[in-house]
Parts: sequence; C-alpha cells; structure tokens
Amino acid sequence: MDYNEIKKADREVFDAIHGELERQRSTLEMIPSENYCSTAVLKAMASIFNSKYSEGYPGKRYYGGQEFVDAVENLAIERAKQLFGAEHANVQPYSGSPANMAVYYALLEPGDKIMGMSLAHGGHLTHGHRVSFSSKYYKAVHYGVDKESHLIDYDEVKKIALQEKPKLIIAGATAYPRKYDFKAFGEIAQEAEAYLLVDMAHIAGLIAGGVHPNAFPHADVVTSTTHKTLRGPRGGLILSKREYAKAIDHAVFPSLQGGPHEHVIAGKAICFKEAMGEDFKKYAKQIVKNCKVLADRLMENGLDIITGGTDNHLVLADVTSKGLSGKQAEELLEEVGITVNKNMIPFDPRKPFDPSGIRLGTPALTSRGMEESEMEYLAELIVKALDNPENSLVKAGIREDVKELCSKFPLYPDMEVQG
Ligand SMILES: Cc1ncc(COP(=O)(O)O)c(C=O)c1O
Repeated sequence: MDYNEIKKADREVFDAIHGELERQRSTLEMIPSENYCSTAVLKAMASIFNSKYSEGYPGKRYYGGQEFVDAVENLAIERAKQLFGAEHANVQPYSGSPANMAVYYALLEPGDKIMGMSLAHGGHLTHGHRVSFSSKYYKAVHYGVDKESHLIDYDEVKKIALQEKPKLIIAGATAYPRKYDFKAFGEIAQEAEAYLLVDMAHIAGLIAGGVHPNAFPHADVVTSTTHKTLRGPRGGLILSKREYAKAIDHAVFPSLQGGPHEHVIAGKAICFKEAMGEDFKKYAKQIVKNCKVLADRLMENGLDIITGGTDNHLVLADVTSKGLSGKQAEELLEEVGITVNKNMIPFDPRKPFDPSGIRLGTPALTSRGMEESEMEYLAELIVKALDNPENSLVKAGIREDVKELCSKFPLYPDMEVQG
C-alpha cells in the first residue's frame, strides 16, 4: 500500500498513521477484541466503493448505478449465510452496537423486557446496561455467573427467565472465557417464550473456524462484529432465521441507517471467503491453543485466572494477588509494550475504572504467527513485569525483549510507510 499520497495531502494525519503502524509493529496486541485483517480487506475498505450511495438492498435500491454494488453485497450475504449456516444475512450494520440496536428495533416495542448478561460479569453495554440506549428504551434484567465457579449457571438463567418473562434473551459477552451452551439458552428461551439473540461478536471467528459450537439452529437471531476473531473489516452483521428477515432488513434500513458502507461490505465479503478456508480453521484452532497455554503459564506463576482457564480466545486474570489493580497492571504492561485492558472480574469489589482484573487475548498475536512457545515466553514476561512494577531496569529489559519478539513476527511486512 502506498501512503505517500496521504503524506503529500496531510502531513499531520500521515504522521498519526505512521506512528500507529510503528506502535502496532513494535508492541504485543493482547486486547481480545482486536485483530489484524488481511491487506486484501484493508484495500477493499480503501476502494472506490467508498463513493457509492446504495440505500436499499440488492435489486431494490433508491439510486442508480448499482450493478457492482449489488454484486459485492450479494457475495457478502451469500458467504455469511454459508459460513454460519444462516437462512438470512444482513451485512449492512455499521458495527456491532448498531446491529444489536437493529435487532431490538425489529423484534421489540419500546418498554419490552430484555435479559442479557450483566456488564459486571462480562456482558456488553448494548445488552441492557444502565448507560446504554438498551436500558433506556427497553426494560433490562440481567443474569450473571455463579459465585464460586464463575461459569454461567444455566439453572439460574432459566429461573430468572421464567420469573421475569423477557421478550428477548441475549447470549454472548465481551469477557467470558468459556464456551456457551447455545442449546441450553435455546431451550430456556423457548420455555420462557422469548426470542434468543446470540451476540457472537467476540467468538465469530472461533465459530467460523469450527472451534466453538454454532449458534444456529438454537438462536432466532445472531449478531456479530466482523473485526474481532473473524479478522475482517470494522463492521457489523445480523444473521437470522428466514421468518425475521423482513423485520430485520427494515430495521437496518430505513429505520436506523442510511446508505450502507459498500467499501466495508466488500471487505466483509473477502473476510467471509477467507474464513471459509483451511488456513482459517488452523488459525482459529491456534488462537485457542495459544490462549490455553497462556492461561496455564499465568496460573503457574501465581495469577488467579477466572474460571481456572479458558476455552476460547481470552483470559480474565485477577491481578490483585500481585498487589496491583487492573488499571495499574494495564499501565505497567503498556510501559513494557504489551497492550491489554483492565477489566472487572465477577463480583469485583473494586470500581469499573480501577477494577481487579485484566483481560488478555490471543487473536492478534496468533495472526502475527505466534504459537505455544511464544505464549510461554510471553507469560513469563507478563509475570516479570507484574512482579517488578517499580524496577525501571527490569522494565526496560522486558521492553527490549518485547521489541525483539515483535521483530521476529513482522506485521504487514509489505506495507511501506516511511515517516
Ligand atoms: C459482545 C459484543 N457485542 C457488541 C459489541 C459492539 O461492537 P462495536 O464496538 O463494533 O459497536 C462488542 C464490542 O466490544 C462486543 O464485545
């Protein structure tokens, strides 16, 4: 990719892009919701589809000149359906939050009750948190995880669902390190006469790669982002059973969105094709293998890992046993070039801005080609940093080790951005 034109047009923006590329290249990205898409996807997002208005859907648009837009959107739709075994796909949502909003808009009336996992136990803001539209326009009730095991207690979910009678139950979270039992959620939803929405934003790539069970046929509707484990462009996706197709399409456009971002939809089409390949299956498997090794090594070195391990791409660690808060750990690790995020742990006695935990993930590092041995080494570096928060010499040494590891796994090696 040639960035010289940006350099000529706008030096300040160019400097920011250059700085960000260097930052990404020289640090270890362990935020579980981040990833590196292919250069093909990046190029599609910078393509001439950016210019085109195409309100409506393939074959039914409000503007002319749609031959190629229809072709690319149809490709994305058909591939999404095939990849996840869905009867219907809408590839227009701008991102994960608008996708969830569109589902609520399609299936619910204002004031209806929704039931999702509480944010404090790993749920997402759009699952009914008090600061989100989802609790202002809908009545939100929550389920959480078991106090001892920190696993979803399906009997408890059932009890709350039958008591509260929500119209929609949401399965899926941002910080749950274990597999979801979508069959159990489906049975609960059926008994409670609720719709089941699976928000697979975090695990879409794991489902596509066959290392996590699929949400269909148990879910009525499935939402996702395309930029996390799925490793595509920044965007959203709604899949559903055929009977909800019309309501969902209408909710996305014209109810909530205007013109679709066809340049991003082109990126989604490529991403879905990539995710159907054998290489992606290996990639998804490796994400989980890496994460298990990371969790095991961190535990062996005295970190309390929530649920005692992981089945997916993320690890939730309580860092208070190291005498640190989550915020301190996040800052400390950033200093040595390891990017993680502070996170609440279930039943956290601390506050969200300075919680007890950190959330670490392996999707981005696995995209760089790292495997189990790098995870073992990395766990050592993380623990060494957490054990030496005040030791500048040790921290400087770890920063150099991180840079060296990064240089062995070059990021976007063909991308030339000369500052
Ligand atoms: C489970 C879940 N749903 C929805 C979203 C929202 O996606 P976006 O940030 O693209 O709006 C996220 C993002 O982190 C998420 O983790």
